[in-house]
Amino acid sequence: MELTQNTILITGGTSGFGYQFASQLLALGNTVIITGRDQSKLDQTKKQLPQVHTFQSDVSDPNAIIQLYKNVTQQFPELNILINNAGEMRTINLQDPTIDLQNITREIEINLMGPIRMIQQFLPHLKTKKTAAILNVTSGLALVPFPISPIYGATKSGLRSYTKSLRVQLKNTNIKVFELVAPGANTLLNDKFENMDGFDSKNNMEPDKIVQAAIKGLETNKLEIYPGIANVIKIMSRIAPKFALSQTSKVGAKMMQ
Ligand SMILES: NC(=O)c1ccc[n+]([C@@H]2O[C@H](COP(=O)([O-])OP(=O)(O)OC[C@H]3O[C@@H](n4cnc5c(N)ncnc54)[C@H](OP(=O)(O)O)[C@@H]3O)[C@@H](O)[C@H]2O)c1
Repeated sequence: MELTQNTILITGGTSGFGYQFASQLLALGNTVIITGRDQSKLDQTKKQLPQVHTFQSDVSDPNAIIQLYKNVTQQFPELNILINNAGEMRTINLQDPTIDLQNITREIEINLMGPIRMIQQFLPHLKTKKTAAILNVTSGLALVPFPISPIYGATKSGLRSYTKSLRVQLKNTNIKVFELVAPGANTLLNDKFENMDGFDSKNNMEPDKIVQAAIKGLETNKLEIYPGIANVIKIMSRIAPKFALSQTSKVGAKMMQ
């Protein structure tokens, strides 16, 4: 699809991939709207990218999504692309007796229910556009579990499954459904792993390179985009899934005992 002169909503646009999407899509001549929870980070991003439009909105809050929909479609009726990027990743020891039942599922609310609700809310609007697209950001960890972040992996596998179903259901519409299966990247999301046993950041990519690959994928209608090592993870998950899991199980092994 043409990636110029679109109106694009990106959830979580204040750092990492979301910031890169905003910056690169603005440079291509699109109108770009970003969200995030932290107003100071939105203000900072607006300083760095003066053309970007910002809305404070928490993707895990259904009422905030309804309000966001009203505000965005009123101010930007040409909206035709939704990028579900906002996400959180935590390290969790499932044997920790202090974990409470509300808190344990927080990543599901953000990473899985967030995109599902956003799409449900924006779908009728996107269907009115001549060309439209939805891009969901999953992860190589949708393909191989990452035991130290058990809920995160579950959300990304779930989002991948949902994305495939969505693509089938929308196949006769104007809306193309893309998935970015992102490999590990040097973003704030990964800071917590820096000094963890078994973690090696040398294979991490820079987020700008991953987003360049994603944009190329959108432009060439590649519906599943696997930048860099994500391709290797895809192959390993098929031909050697036990080996792949043994490798990811090394990270944070001490914390999981
Ligand atoms: N980094 C990696 O290695 C990697 C690999 C594969 C996939 N991914 C995926 O890529 C996406 C972006 O991650 P990143 O690495 O760029 O992380 P990041 O640098 O931490 O950025 C996350 C962005 O999402 C926003 N956000 C978080 N929770 C939100 C919520 N509930 N509502 C609205 N916005 C929210 C954050 O702003 P606020 O905190 O202000 O809300 C921030 O703008 C995520 O879906 C992540 O799972 C990352």
